[in-house]
Amino acid sequence: MHKTYDFLVLGSGGAGLSYALRVARYGTVAVITKKDSAESNTNYAQGGLASVVDKEDSFEAHIQDTLVAGAGLCHEEVVKMVVQSGPDVIRELLDWGARFTENKGNLDLGREGGHSRNRIVHAADRTGKEIELALLSAVGKHSNIEIFEHHFALELITEHHLGKKVTRHDSDTHCYGAYVFDTYSNKVEPVYAKATLLATGGVGEVYQYSTNPAIATGDGIAMAYRAKARVANMEFMQFHPTTLNLPDADSFLISEAVRGKGGILRTEKGDAFMRNYDERAELAPRDIVARAIDDHLKKSGDDTVYLDITHLKPDVIRTSFPHIHENCLLHGIDITKEWIPVVPAAHYLCGGVLTDMEGRTSIHGLYCAGEASCTGLHGANRLASNSLLEAIVFSKKAALNSVEYIRGLGALPNVPAWDDSGTTNIEEAILVSHNREELQKIMWNYVGIVRSDLRLARAFRRTHLLYEETESFYQRSRVSVALCELRNLIANAYMIIRSAMRRKESRGLHYTTDYPTSLESEKYDTII
Ligand code: FAD
Ligand code: SIN
Repeated sequence: MHKTYDFLVLGSGGAGLSYALRVARYGTVAVITKKDSAESNTNYAQGGLASVVDKEDSFEAHIQDTLVAGAGLCHEEVVKMVVQSGPDVIRELLDWGARFTENKGNLDLGREGGHSRNRIVHAADRTGKEIELALLSAVGKHSNIEIFEHHFALELITEHHLGKKVTRHDSDTHCYGAYVFDTYSNKVEPVYAKATLLATGGVGEVYQYSTNPAIATGDGIAMAYRAKARVANMEFMQFHPTTLNLPDADSFLISEAVRGKGGILRTEKGDAFMRNYDERAELAPRDIVARAIDDHLKKSGDDTVYLDITHLKPDVIRTSFPHIHENCLLHGIDITKEWIPVVPAAHYLCGGVLTDMEGRTSIHGLYCAGEASCTGLHGANRLASNSLLEAIVFSKKAALNSVEYIRGLGALPNVPAWDDSGTTNIEEAILVSHNREELQKIMWNYVGIVRSDLRLARAFRRTHLLYEETESFYQRSRVSVALCELRNLIANAYMIIRSAMRRKESRGLHYTTDYPTSLESEKYDTII
């Protein structure tokens, strides 16, 4: 691959690809992605993208719903900016070729938890795939953009690689690109760039049960952390209330749009229990619904709750949720006639690499957008379908700013070649997968929907041991994706646990039995 580009994009989900499309007019672009280019959280998004489209809806209402879900930690100016950009985002996605479900010639608008109106623009129940494929097709037509599949970004290049001691308090650290591992040639090469966008997505894989695909290992957040960028609000991991609870179903998501269409959560005995927890019942914000299910399961000793949409017409179910209908059938459940067994699973990280309104991180030349970022939009709990919107809005902000940033930049410095002297091939690869499984169990058992000081302290001790083992292994071994992902997962787990330990209250997605209420004195972003 060429080694110097104007723009380097790490990740080929919604954030990365839309940024690439926007900057390509101004220079050369390399998109680095660790698997096939479509493999991303974006590709699996179901419900849709929240935007004020209906004449009866208003920006004020969408802003208010976002602020309520965010439990006091949203940055209001960011919420306003993102919500007001919604209609433009929909137009741009249509221009890039995405096609959304229509109803009598207008966009069909779905409903999800926490929204006071129908405002979810969607492509049936496979919205993410529609967006991902449209963006990939547009990118494929652009001669200035090169995509490198099966290339794994290892580390961001900063002054640290020029021999300078870089600290988190420095304000003059720059990013010059990244070291990238080509999994075909097994070589690590520096890729230089004037501006770099981190769009590597979230970290659902740090939990045993997650809706996310296996790529979601928080690599970008870990890289930025090691490069001494500021990271924030890592304790706010969102658990989706409804994932298919069957062996081999791999926590397949049952979209919140199913509840938006009238789905009822029932106990094993058939009782609709959500109203015992919140007057908004099934359409309460996600943190409330997930905690209610968790509470019911713990108190009753049941293994599952059920989502019931059998009262809807079979035709409506099949046309509104073709993907969910098909996938449940594969698992032996006809959702037009049978209740769907569901439990919560880890879904979305509200925290991430801290950015300003322009998508800039605390390192010059390093931008971040999408799930890897913490922009201030979601606060302590993301409102459903606000993340695709955020990814596209902030990739635009970052693109505009980085085009300005690279103007007049001098030559990029040369960094030393990747040094793997003294390392050998991993002789015990199985230990890496054992450690990954152990970490996922620790996080699920002790840093889940309901936390406590005791559980967090236990998680911290166990994770520290895994950290020591893995670092020593890493120092001795040649680069491998599995080992690097494990190292990144551990770094993310560490940040999640430490941030959760610091917050002495319950707010939004962070609920602890030791401090069950929200406190005015704890109303801050947890910045690492
Ligand atoms: P991603 O789409 O995850 O892309 C990350 C990219 O980075 C991938 O290409 C990955 O391979 C690459 N990458 C990662 N690490 C490296 C590395 N080290 N080197 C190179 N490449 C790397 N949000 C909504 O708003 N509405 C929804 O309806 C919705 N439904 C969802 C359903 C599911 C099942 C899931 C999992 C999420 C859903 N979300 C939804 C959340 C939303 O999809 C994501 O937050 C959003 O798509 C993130 O986009 P992104 O571009 O930041 O990251
Ligand atoms: C869903 O379809 O339930 C997912 C929506 C989201 O995560 O925003």
